[in-house]
Amino acid sequence: MRFKKITKPSEVDLNIVGAKLLLGNQLLDGGISIEEGKIIKIGKEPSLPKADKIHDVKGRLTIPGLIDTHVHLRDLQLSYKEDFHTGTCAAAAGGFTTILDMPNNIPPTYSAANLRLRRDEAMTKVIVNVGFHAGLVDDKSEIHKMSSMGIYSFKLYMNNRHSQIDIENDATLAENFSTCKMINVPITVHAEDRSTIEQRINNFKGKPIELKDYCYIHDSDVEEKAVKRIIGIAEKTGATIHICHITNSSTIDEIKEARDKGISVTGEIAPHHMILSKDVLEKLGGWALMDPPLRQITETENLWNGLLNKEFLTVASDHAPHSLLEKSSQDIREVLPGIPGLETTLPILLTKISRGRLSLSAIPKILAERPAKIFGLKGKGELSEGADADITILDLKKEFVIDPDKFHSKARYSPFAGENCVGCVSEVFLAGNMIFENGEILTPPGSGQVLGVQT
Ligand code: DOR
Ligand code: ZN
Ligand code: ZN
Repeated sequence: MRFKKITKPSEVDLNIVGAKLLLGNQLLDGGISIEEGKIIKIGKEPSLPKADKIHDVKGRLTIPGLIDTHVHLRDLQLSYKEDFHTGTCAAAAGGFTTILDMPNNIPPTYSAANLRLRRDEAMTKVIVNVGFHAGLVDDKSEIHKMSSMGIYSFKLYMNNRHSQIDIENDATLAENFSTCKMINVPITVHAEDRSTIEQRINNFKGKPIELKDYCYIHDSDVEEKAVKRIIGIAEKTGATIHICHITNSSTIDEIKEARDKGISVTGEIAPHHMILSKDVLEKLGGWALMDPPLRQITETENLWNGLLNKEFLTVASDHAPHSLLEKSSQDIREVLPGIPGLETTLPILLTKISRGRLSLSAIPKILAERPAKIFGLKGKGELSEGADADITILDLKKEFVIDPDKFHSKARYSPFAGENCVGCVSEVFLAGNMIFENGEILTPPGSGQVLGVQT
């Protein structure tokens, strides 16, 4: 039996005991009492009320359930890459209890009807909490409809791979940004300047595009240009923007400067851009290709420094699964950009902690507290009385090697394959129920919650 039954009359559903609780910068030896999916007490064990069940985590580190605000769960016509069940199993295995899904799907989450379709499919399959980003479209009525259904942002792809809005037109963007400002919904931005990308591609007419050319086509200046432009539009309209997968330290400086002027802007960094550099791309080819691509090693260092010092930055995985076939072409133009990240993000960061690159207290800040605050995820992102009982327990000593064959995701490849890691997820609780333990999913499809979306 997993839990010890107590015979005395109880006051709460569950006590998690024997925990090393990470509360801000403090470690407290104690426990958490849970009743009806909420944390009702955190404290030393003698102070906890009697519980129906007790779960002893034997001194393991206990942190809030992690939040990943940039995940591509695919499903529907893209379910061959990932579906709501496999994607949320990957999330749980990676310590994430809440994730936000991106809209570049088939069909795209660019209308209330498609959002409804997505929500209905998700409800039957997810095992963690899932909320949705929708695509920014040039249609006020659709923006209003999607926002009243409940979404966490409108996503703008400035590289136009997936846009349904005239991204070259500042006036069009400003008008729609103003609508978002009015209804108080942030805009998440893929900041790569389409015109520069296209000009550069055109220069290759007829000639084959190699990896180094791909990096040139998507070079840092492409991000720089888009970031400057989009911050300008945010300034003009008062809209709130969040810059996705930052690869340039200059972007962090731009955000800082903008915030000092009162512009509402935050950002996120993906672990691969912090840890891997261009030489990995040269070695692995398409398997390490994503948009924006990996940069110089010096820039990865700058991103670390930025992340540690800036309150407005988070880490998000940009989990972007593709099939093996879509990743394996020798011709780089045929390879789809994107790598899975839900099952590598935390182990990779914990390993950095074991090597002294990051402090333990940074983990809940960059992967729970700040994302919850930026996207208004109420009751999430912290261990506190009254919060949702979404809790992740870590084994900081466990050593293992990243093996994509063991992923819960359908995307069984990773540029981190073979990496030696120290630290992994041992248990995950969602609304007080243990949904993952020692590599095993313990909960059926549909037991998670779809967040925010109304009919
Ligand atoms: O690498 C990427 N993959 N970048 C994107 O912007 C899209 C994503 C995907 O959906 O595959
Ligand atoms: Zn993107
Ligand atoms: Zn993405």
